[in-house]
Amino acid sequence: MKDFAGRVAVVTGAAEGIGRAIAEEAAARGMKLILADIDGARLEATTAELRSNGADADGLRVDVSKAGEVDDLADYACSRFGRVHVLVANAGVACAKPVWETTPGDWEWMMGVNLYGVTNALRAFLPRMLSLGGEGHVVATASMAGLLSLPSMAAYNASKHAVVTVMEGLHHDLALRNARIGASVLCPGWVKTRIALSERHRNAGELTRAGDLDPVAAKIVGAVQQAVAAGIEPAVAARAVFAAIAHGRFYVLTHRDSKAGVRARFDDILEERPPTLVRL
Ligand SMILES: NC(=O)c1ccc[n+]([C@@H]2O[C@H](COP(=O)([O-])OP(=O)(O)OC[C@H]3O[C@@H](n4cnc5c(N)ncnc54)[C@H](O)[C@@H]3O)[C@@H](O)[C@H]2O)c1
Repeated sequence: MKDFAGRVAVVTGAAEGIGRAIAEEAAARGMKLILADIDGARLEATTAELRSNGADADGLRVDVSKAGEVDDLADYACSRFGRVHVLVANAGVACAKPVWETTPGDWEWMMGVNLYGVTNALRAFLPRMLSLGGEGHVVATASMAGLLSLPSMAAYNASKHAVVTVMEGLHHDLALRNARIGASVLCPGWVKTRIALSERHRNAGELTRAGDLDPVAAKIVGAVQQAVAAGIEPAVAARAVFAAIAHGRFYVLTHRDSKAGVRARFDDILEERPPTLVRL
């Protein structure tokens, strides 16, 4: 899909970070927009800013882990603009701790937002996009944690590995049906956003207490925070997404230097060696 002007994009997790940058890139290319996010106040501010810059944009408060709310988002987008050309299922959350300390609530939260947020969107939007025919593209945001296994991040890794394989399967399903809808999976390395503060979306009783982490996990959390702060700008990831849509590229890797880690992982698997530790 090479023409974007006048077409319609829906972006989840669009109030800030990578999602916001994708929405801004879509607007810069003349797309009409529906922004979705669980953070209603920030979503309103982002939507207002896009509108003041001339975009035809609407925001809807949505918890992507709730299937019914994502169905409502698809209904809303189609009634507002008639159809959707580009869907970006981007909302995601993270927290870090060893797997043996990861609670049922942690699993539910990360799988709910990161994996079901994507599958809810595919189920809600794709039947509509397929039945209307014409060109389209679906993007899901995974992570390098979908291709590698970071220490102390079992639930995040699992959710992002699941997103990668769901999108690979989707790519095949669309191709086997000669659909004119492409698929891409965004696997960024570190990006300068508030991902390390994801628990801002949780209730007080569910929060990870820094003091409860053992020294190894505490060191990893600190390293992740530093790496995110030194990460690329979200706009760089957003431009990579649109280049991938325009060129029909499936895998979108924003950090060339992290490819060595992926290669090492697959070499470890094929050589049946223990996994190489990923350097943060
Ligand atoms: N920042 C990084 O280094 C990095 C690296 C790899 C992948 N990612 C992925 O990029 C995506 C975007 O994250 P980001 O870095 O921009 O973080 P961010 O925290 O800045 O933005 C995430 C957005 O998702 C929203 N959100 C959270 N829970 C939601 C829910 N249940 N329903 C709807 N919206 C919800 C938040 O309100 C926020 O606006 C995520 O999927 C994340 O896992 C980020």
